[in-house]
Amino acid sequence: MNLRIEQLSKSFGNRVVLDGLNLTVERGEAIAIVGPSGSGKSTLLNILGSLEKPDSGKVVLGEVVVNELTKHLLEAFRSRSVGFVFQEHLLLPYLSALDNVLLPCLGHPETTPIESARSLLDRVGLTERANDFPSTLSGGERQRVALARALIHEPLMILADEPTGSLDHERAVELVDLLLSEAKMQNRIVIMVTHNLDLAHRLDRTLILTNGQLTLEGG
Ligand SMILES: Nc1ncnc2c1ncn2[C@@H]1O[C@H](COP(=O)(O)OP(=O)(O)OP(=O)(O)O)[C@@H](O)[C@H]1O
Ligand SMILES: [Mg+2]
Repeated sequence: MNLRIEQLSKSFGNRVVLDGLNLTVERGEAIAIVGPSGSGKSTLLNILGSLEKPDSGKVVLGEVVVNELTKHLLEAFRSRSVGFVFQEHLLLPYLSALDNVLLPCLGHPETTPIESARSLLDRVGLTERANDFPSTLSGGERQRVALARALIHEPLMILADEPTGSLDHERAVELVDLLLSEAKMQNRIVIMVTHNLDLAHRLDRTLILTNGQLTLEGG
């Protein structure tokens, strides 16, 4: 099981953002993507998570060619195989921490994994805060709730777009280490976009996205 990106291209109008990218990521591997603002990092992550379509090329996760899935299968794929963490936590303000973690399971009350959600909150250090609302949590705590939510469906791949963008350095390191330990434990793939090279270097490989191409840092 791995993630393969083959000849991936994407343009907006005549602006070429991704220009024939190739990359293979093995299960359990954590990749950092850095690069200038506007270089296409979020676009790449959105395509990997099937939130956006490439113009050409392929994203293959295990046996699944993600960009060839029909709409119905795409939604199932997105919710079961991919966990997203964004720069802003995107928690719903009127739901408790626990209910925010359970949000991706909404609509399936018979199988709502409350115990899994509690155990995830334990693992991110928020046992005591399960019933608290986002507005009463610190920035770091909110991002940890967002991480727990990204893990609720046991995704094969975690996509994180500047997940530490709103945190100070100490909180950022804490969140990245938590993300990595959760991912490594279950052999999940991590693709994390960051502007911070110190954080990037905590992951297995750092790739630079410039001029539509990915290159290995120092390579
Ligand atoms: N929906 C869209 N329509 C038109 N242009 C877009 C769209 N989405 C992104 N772009 C353009 O594509 C380029 C890449 O954007 P993207 O958001 O992927 O960059 P980024 O590397 O994530 O930047 P940042 O570090 O600032 O978040 C930018 O020039 C942006 O303006
Ligand atoms: Mg971005």
